[in-house]
Amino acid sequence: MNPLHPDRNIALELVRATEAAAIRAVPFIGRGDKLAADGAAVDAMRAFLHTVGIDGQIVIGEGEKDEAPMLFNGEAVGNGRGPECDIAVDPIDGTSLTAEGRQNALSVIAVSDRGTMLDASSVFYMDKIVTGPAGVGVVDIRKPVGENIRALAAAMGKPVDQIVVSVLNRPRHEQLIADIRAAGAGTRLMSDGDVAGGINAARFNAPTDMCIGIGGSPEGIVTACAIKALGGHIQGRMWPRDDAERQRGIDAGLKMDYVYEADELVKGNNTIFVATGVTDGQLVSGVRREGNWVHTESIVLRGASGTLRRISSEHLLTKWG
Ligand code: FBP
Repeated sequence: MNPLHPDRNIALELVRATEAAAIRAVPFIGRGDKLAADGAAVDAMRAFLHTVGIDGQIVIGEGEKDEAPMLFNGEAVGNGRGPECDIAVDPIDGTSLTAEGRQNALSVIAVSDRGTMLDASSVFYMDKIVTGPAGVGVVDIRKPVGENIRALAAAMGKPVDQIVVSVLNRPRHEQLIADIRAAGAGTRLMSDGDVAGGINAARFNAPTDMCIGIGGSPEGIVTACAIKALGGHIQGRMWPRDDAERQRGIDAGLKMDYVYEADELVKGNNTIFVATGVTDGQLVSGVRREGNWVHTESIVLRGASGTLRRISSEHLLTKWG
């Protein structure tokens, strides 16, 4: 589509759902109960999603990994009077971050045309690589990380020692982290939240240059919807934890030992990604309360037009019941 032609943008309707989820999670920030935080966010998101003018179906719900409360895969959402859409939800990406009162927790919804999102839910983890536009056609998840770092540095016109790579801080990434450092690049170790990590590697004025490693598969699909709007690079490869999970993935039609390119994670560019900060982070501020007001900050990314918008809202709490 021509980005200069006005087209309906349901982002403002969707952002009400991520704002509500973030606000409802506030009483649980730093209270040590991640399931309660997730439950409050899920309930709020579900209620608001049902008012959105779409005929939506949840393709990617989040929570099965921890048996957390969830918006179920296959659940119909929206008021049914609008375009047929695939929906991925992550009511809180960073439930532990929220429970511990740490940075970078987000509430997220991603939307694409019906039938375009890969249903990766039968395999919980995905190996991913994300960069901004400079990495397109330059980095490849199949290559050693050092090679990718050198290629990206050359494409970005900066020395390798100025390249910063974000990785989830997990034992499974010990070798990867050592290899990044051995290549001469710096690391930003994330305790959780690789959706924000991916976007922070790909956006304008990005604080990091690459986000790499094994995280949730739902988060991979959600991130792909955002990367479409940023013109960045993303690839994913299923990372089953054992043979039974590998077989479940194969039975569900997923390819193992296979690199999914951006367009196979989500087909086409008609994606919308919205996220509201739950706790403060480099991408957005977290929910902040002052007296009867609560402030939220959100971002909206639209694949068709290649835009990232920021929405800053003040909500009068007395209207929230
Ligand atoms: P949750 O909010 O569901 O706990 O996910 C947080 C997260 O850090 C994701 O951002 C990431 O993709 C995944 O968990 C990594 O999984 P694990 O914590 O099992 O390594």
